[in-house]
Amino acid sequence: MQVKIGKRIRDVIRRDSKVIFTTTREDFPFVADHGNGDHVFDIEGNRFIDFSSFVSCYNLGVNANAQIRNAAKKQIDRLMHGMFMDYYEEAPVELAEKLVGMLPPGFGRVFFSNSGTEANEDAIKLVKLFTKRRHIIAFYGAFHGRSIGALGLTASKTSHRAHFGPFVNVSHAPYPDPYRFNGSPEECSQASIDFIERNILGKEVPPNEVAAIFFEPIQGEGGYVVPPRGFFKELRKLADEHGILLVDDEIQAGYMRTGKFLALSNFGTVADIYTFAKSFGAGFPLAATVARKSLGDTPAGSHAGTFGGNLVASAAATASLDYIKRNRRGLERSIARKGAKIMKRMNEMKETYELVGDVRGMGLMIGVEFVKSKEGKEYATKERDSIIVDCFNKGLVVLPAGSSTIRIIPPLTILESNIDKGLDVLEEAIKNNSK
Ligand SMILES: Cc1ncc(COP(=O)(O)O)c(C=O)c1O
Repeated sequence: MQVKIGKRIRDVIRRDSKVIFTTTREDFPFVADHGNGDHVFDIEGNRFIDFSSFVSCYNLGVNANAQIRNAAKKQIDRLMHGMFMDYYEEAPVELAEKLVGMLPPGFGRVFFSNSGTEANEDAIKLVKLFTKRRHIIAFYGAFHGRSIGALGLTASKTSHRAHFGPFVNVSHAPYPDPYRFNGSPEECSQASIDFIERNILGKEVPPNEVAAIFFEPIQGEGGYVVPPRGFFKELRKLADEHGILLVDDEIQAGYMRTGKFLALSNFGTVADIYTFAKSFGAGFPLAATVARKSLGDTPAGSHAGTFGGNLVASAAATASLDYIKRNRRGLERSIARKGAKIMKRMNEMKETYELVGDVRGMGLMIGVEFVKSKEGKEYATKERDSIIVDCFNKGLVVLPAGSSTIRIIPPLTILESNIDKGLDVLEEAIKNNSK
């Protein structure tokens, strides 16, 4: 199938360029109109298979499912916005109870906001409040958002940060990247832990001034980097030794994406605070910051927000969690099966094409890193970008991550036949961009 771009699409793009600030637009003319499970259609009727879940916002299918949409519609007819900041509402309380029910024991208090960056912003305030310490540690390659607090944690591209400092007090450590580390997975993990101990806690800031370590269980925007299995247990040990809190940003990797509700569960450890957004809102702007109950509460007036826990968003998010709870076993099995299928096919491509340097992932969070040569591992950024455009032109939406990676993150509910069709398009694009 060949996508045809006509006047209506070109016109929207021209009008957009006159009135909308530039954000992070990709190189292809995608003007979505409607979607339905595995597919999205643009305003001229071109149909695309979705391998992006709209940046992990539609884990249960493009435009969610009928139960989620009906829950939102019902709430719209009753009351759309409450005064949850000042009074009480049932919908967000029910959602918080259900979210806590998905987490390890001991988690209790939830703060609702509207976006991923806000959820991390809230976490920054909470760790300062709970520990009375000011300094934070995060990782190179991290993406935690773009508001000023969260941007201090983000360190995946200088273009995100240029001109916007000063930021909160953050020291960055190398995130363990087994593909680009010269040594075993254990050594790779240890090198990051050693860096924190020796360089940050040993030379920059004493441990008793560090409030928290923020991390993504799998780095998203930074390039779909999967750390070695033992890494977070070691990080937990280090944090516990010094009374430092761990904040796990599950915004992209969580919500069943890896086959488990929390991506961190794959690493056999727990955090002290979790942040959620993207698919958590089931298509609506909704985010949550959840802390261990033992950490305490916030004093009245210290933190609030007008729209957090919006009633329509809460109703949709509750229906979405209900769907996951009802279908959890089936989802776990199918995510594992579909993920293995994609990994197998991508690993075959790795054997065939020099350009495919690394294939990695968990469940349906899969990254494919392109390199100019397997030996030198030089980033093949141009080739990666060209592959993405070729896929788009043949009716497949995929997104980049990091310097030369693409992410394969279809809706978790995607049919296997559509996975096959999407991978055929991707292979053709890789072939065309191989020398
Ligand atoms: C891991 C992670 N954290 C935070 C964010 C920021 O979320 P938002 O764009 O909703 O502010 C993102 C967005 O891509 C993300 O991937």
